[in-house]
Amino acid sequence: MRAQIIGVGHALPERRLTNQELEQMVDTSDQWIVERSGIRERRIADPPTKCSDLAYQAAAMALQRAGIAARQLDLIIVATATPDMSFPSTACIVQDRLGASNAAAFDLEAGCTGFIYGLDVAHKYLLSEDYNYILIIGAEVLSRILNYEDRNTCVLFGDGAGAAVLGKGHDGYGLLSSVIGADGSGARFLTLPAGGTAMPASLETVQNGLHFVQMNGNEVFRFASRILPEISSKVLQKAGYTYSDIDIFVPHQANIRIIKTAMKRMNIPAEKTLINLDKYGNISAACIPVALSQAEEEGRLKAGDLALLVAFGAGLTYGGVLLRWGRD
Ligand code: UT7
Repeated sequence: MRAQIIGVGHALPERRLTNQELEQMVDTSDQWIVERSGIRERRIADPPTKCSDLAYQAAAMALQRAGIAARQLDLIIVATATPDMSFPSTACIVQDRLGASNAAAFDLEAGCTGFIYGLDVAHKYLLSEDYNYILIIGAEVLSRILNYEDRNTCVLFGDGAGAAVLGKGHDGYGLLSSVIGADGSGARFLTLPAGGTAMPASLETVQNGLHFVQMNGNEVFRFASRILPEISSKVLQKAGYTYSDIDIFVPHQANIRIIKTAMKRMNIPAEKTLINLDKYGNISAACIPVALSQAEEEGRLKAGDLALLVAFGAGLTYGGVLLRWGRD
């Protein structure tokens, strides 16, 4: 048995926030943002739009492309760091909206690596006879937890969602290997300090801006530059492939310099690399499924392609998946 992605979808808010607009909001410049990160604009959800709204839209597209009904789903996993609320899980809200009444549902928190963690988990569930179809959604409304007075973070992130339906296949297509991991000693480098049990919400936490993302960019950068090639080589080795076999490289979209360092170390050319951070910024767990969905739409991702997906994120977490794109 092989877990196969049988349908992908995405949802992106219409509103674009450009670097030029950010220049009017904080002490930054288009030149700095482009040179240091590669980002030119990002999408921002309108005030009433919740994580579950974007998740639902991406999921509906993925189900339609997969050609299965929501009631056929056995499990829904929503990978997010920006759920509608602490509980109930966003996955349960999406389950109800889709009418996926036969599906179990839970949220998965692995920061920007959430979608990769989701693929790994789904693959293992699909080994069981009880599960035939699993929906994984990476969905984020990061604009709600950004401080638009903090230039270190607000220029980097955006909103959006991507989804994939996984089914069982028996041919050469599907997931060939996966590796996930974490280094909790780096947890302090990327946090949302308040609102949990460590620091419950209070007037003081709000006044001190502790409900916003706080990041040590240099530390995350160092970690990412080391881990992307490391995890890539582990995933490839596990399945008996090498860098030169890769048809499509789909890295987490945090910073163009991190991606280029990985491409250089792995000798992967630009035409084999999916990059969308210039248009959407870092949409955390949604980056990779959005890239997959759009690449398939554009014909850049074809049946038979060997795709390597790798990510890192808050935790610090990391993970990679190697798959043969397509379905039986
Ligand atoms: O998905 C995981 C999420 N996070 C990441 O992946 C983040 C990884 N890290 C990065 O992408 C990069 O470290 C950043 C883009 C965040 C920062 O780039 P950098 O080249 O590491 O810059 P830096 O932090 O070393 O800062 C250089 C200077 C500083 O000024 P001083 O102290 O040298 O005077 C910053 O204050 O750039 C300043 N700076 C800015 N200037 C203009 C920081 N942000 C901005 C900004 N506009 N938006």
